[in-house]
Amino acid sequence: MKITMIGAGYVGLVSGGCFADIGHAVTCVDRDEAKLEALRRGQIPIYEPGLEAIVHDNMQAGRLQFTADLAAAVADADAVFIAVGTPSRAGDGLADLTHVYAVAREIAPHLTGHTVVVTKSTVPVGTGDEIGRVIAKENPAADVAVVSNPEFLREGSAIGDFMQPDRVVIGTDDARARCVMHDIYAPLNLDDDRILMMSRRTAELTKYAGNSFLAMKVTFINEIADLCEKVGADVLDVARGIGMDERIGRKFLQAGPGIGGSCFPKDTLALVKTAHDADSPVRLVETTVTVNDQRKRAMAKKVIRACGGTVRGKTIAILGLTFKPDTDDVRESPAIPIITALQDAGARIRAFDPEGTEQAQTILKNIAYCEDAYDAAAGADALVIVTEWGVFRDLDLARLKQTMAAPVMVDLRNIYDAATVRVAGISYTGIGRSDGTDRRSLVLHQAAE
Ligand code: UDX
Repeated sequence: MKITMIGAGYVGLVSGGCFADIGHAVTCVDRDEAKLEALRRGQIPIYEPGLEAIVHDNMQAGRLQFTADLAAAVADADAVFIAVGTPSRAGDGLADLTHVYAVAREIAPHLTGHTVVVTKSTVPVGTGDEIGRVIAKENPAADVAVVSNPEFLREGSAIGDFMQPDRVVIGTDDARARCVMHDIYAPLNLDDDRILMMSRRTAELTKYAGNSFLAMKVTFINEIADLCEKVGADVLDVARGIGMDERIGRKFLQAGPGIGGSCFPKDTLALVKTAHDADSPVRLVETTVTVNDQRKRAMAKKVIRACGGTVRGKTIAILGLTFKPDTDDVRESPAIPIITALQDAGARIRAFDPEGTEQAQTILKNIAYCEDAYDAAAGADALVIVTEWGVFRDLDLARLKQTMAAPVMVDLRNIYDAATVRVAGISYTGIGRSDGTDRRSLVLHQAAE
């Protein structure tokens, strides 16, 4: 089918590339000529494993093209996807829909024949109704159906999430539109029960409910981790103990420094606002937002405690600037408030991230950006693991101890075994680890008795 993707950002580029890869003819539209030129040269503006190959292969196969000419791109499309940004609006946290409605106005005059207009962007409940009104006002003769088709792509695994989705949510009551959307996703060969047809408003809310629940689940285990530290329990074992209950599930139970990224913080805020305006507040999500914000700031205090109560005049090495591994995205990353608070407390910062340095440099100043983990650790009074990149998981502990000024590790992602770190002569502080005695060493101890 002929698909037009408006917006060649993270969601548009991944979705457009994958739609082309499953056989559709895709035209990605963007205003940024420089970005379009780079894309036509095969240069991808974001770090997403597998995306460069998909874009290259499908451009070569003639199934994917990039243009600024929206009118031509929309003219005979079977489906026009709106995949532009919907950032949090300053002040009230509502999703800023300026770009979404601007696209609706721009495409309206150029729609010919029956066209399905699909919101791929995350938008508040009722946005599809307004898009329909905007298009009808600009082009009363337009024969369109506005559909909600939210994305569930995780940064760092977006291609896999698209090609093997848990489900595809299609929000429309229009029979013709349902057929078009079914045909669009048919090449994925999903079982019929994985393509969920529902009303448009229900689909819009499903996206927010999904992200907010995941954010709440992570925040729950983060609070349990704090309790573990107080009562001498181990959050890794608690997470295993509850996660093996199929009603709970093992995923999204890794305690950490708090939730970041361009979605969870934005979507939880937007849901809180939508619910408040509908006079049906979502208090659990409100608490999730508050607890998460406080947590990211509180993590610096954990580092200061691990350094004996002060970091003034000390050098702190930060491993990980992105909000999660396998991305270059630092938006809402816990590293930002942690580093800022440590600098305010008088620390000098050395930092390394495999992909996030370029974006971090636009936000975090007065930092020594280093070449690798050992470079960052050189002369440091503490090493803080903020993002669980694979390259941080098996560092040479003896080399770290030798190069650091003080042997202190604060592992905010629990990627190390405390006993192993201690045996190397480095003090270890994790998240939700009892008195720091690692469960594996306890098991060994019990086995020895
Ligand atoms: C999320 C949703 O997962 C995805 O479905 C949606 O389409 C977009 O938003 P993403 O923002 O890429 O994806 O990140 P995700 O992998 O969900 O992690 C979000 C945050 O939660 C990250 O800061 C991550 O570090 C944190 N997290 C996640 C934890 O702290 N512990 C976990 O167990 C899982």
